[in-house]
Amino acid sequence: IAKQRSALIRVHKEIAEWYHQLLMKHPMADAARQYLKSRGITAEVAKRWQLGFAPAQTQPLREWAAQHKFGARVLTDAGILATRDDGSAPYPRFRNRLMFPIRNENGEVIAFSGRVLEADAKTAKYLNSPETLLFNKSKVLFGFDKSRRAISKAGQAVVCEGQIDTLMVFEAGVQNVVAGQGTAFTEYHAKALKRLADEVVLCYDSDNAGYKAAERAFQALVPYGLIVKVASLPQGEDPDSYIRKQGVEAFTQLIHEAKDFVDYQLASVGARKDLTDMRERIKFAEEMAENVKLFDTPLAQETTIQRVATKLGIAEDIMRKLVKRAQKGST
Ligand code: CTP
Ligand code: MN
Ligand code: MN
Ligand code: MN
Ligand code: MN
Repeated sequence: IAKQRSALIRVHKEIAEWYHQLLMKHPMADAARQYLKSRGITAEVAKRWQLGFAPAQTQPLREWAAQHKFGARVLTDAGILATRDDGSAPYPRFRNRLMFPIRNENGEVIAFSGRVLEADAKTAKYLNSPETLLFNKSKVLFGFDKSRRAISKAGQAVVCEGQIDTLMVFEAGVQNVVAGQGTAFTEYHAKALKRLADEVVLCYDSDNAGYKAAERAFQALVPYGLIVKVASLPQGEDPDSYIRKQGVEAFTQLIHEAKDFVDYQLASVGARKDLTDMRERIKFAEEMAENVKLFDTPLAQETTIQRVATKLGIAEDIMRKLVKRAQKGST
């Protein structure tokens, strides 16, 4: 296994370098360089993050593999080649994509996420490496190798949704930033952050998927005693688009003004639900009870109960009962 691991590490290191060289120099990456420019990603930034380009054709990868004496087997194990069930020859998984290397905590490349250059309805916007010996997406935080110092220094981590957000936020000078891998935030992610920080600021896209993802992240983080806050972007924006439109200072301000997650939920619920309606109010109180029960100390639970009860105009005792009931339901 150790030998297999180091072979896969070598493949990833080499191919990340190759993808990167192609992106920086090769004529076949003209469109990709144009795309970078359109997104405001400079050559310097592309270099720091070792962004790359995966060719549309199969031949360049074949030649590269031959030069480096990488066989189909190791490339398949690395997820660089994909196979079909019909037994036909393996083919490059990433074609005509802008490549983001995903690194482990030691900074070794262990996977890739590839973005299409032009969005269309048929093709997934992002394609990620499959789970391999090196890559378990529920354990890896994008950007963590670069941001861990800043996270530890600030005692705070800013968490966003995607690679481009992470990169833009980092380059904007907010270096304590990471992202999950497009999937739900997990207990592994929470534990990794808890080792360095006591506060997390969620900075997810301001759209429905983003709200839901933020709530799930809150639910993963709170049991570990992390203080969870939300930086709320204007409707429809993500950190990248916001920085591009409003600038770095406005963004930094949003991070400073991040609200406690529960306060944020209480403040924003009015826009989503009609709390003058008794049934809506009870339903929301029950939802909040599910969140309250996750806090790791009785004190944190109790103060949250008070805030929710006050906001909803219900007795604290009723809220306490709902929390008890939620606790029973989950065990
Ligand atoms: N994602 C994914 N597969 C998809 C779509 C998204 O893995 N088909 C992940 C990616 O990590 C992506 C993140 O979810 O960065 C957030 O998705 P989205 O907000 O749609 O993309 P952005 O990061 O905003 O990318 P862009 O600005 O390039 O559109
Ligand atoms: Mn080489
Ligand atoms: Mn999104
Ligand atoms: Mn987004
Ligand atoms: Mn975006």
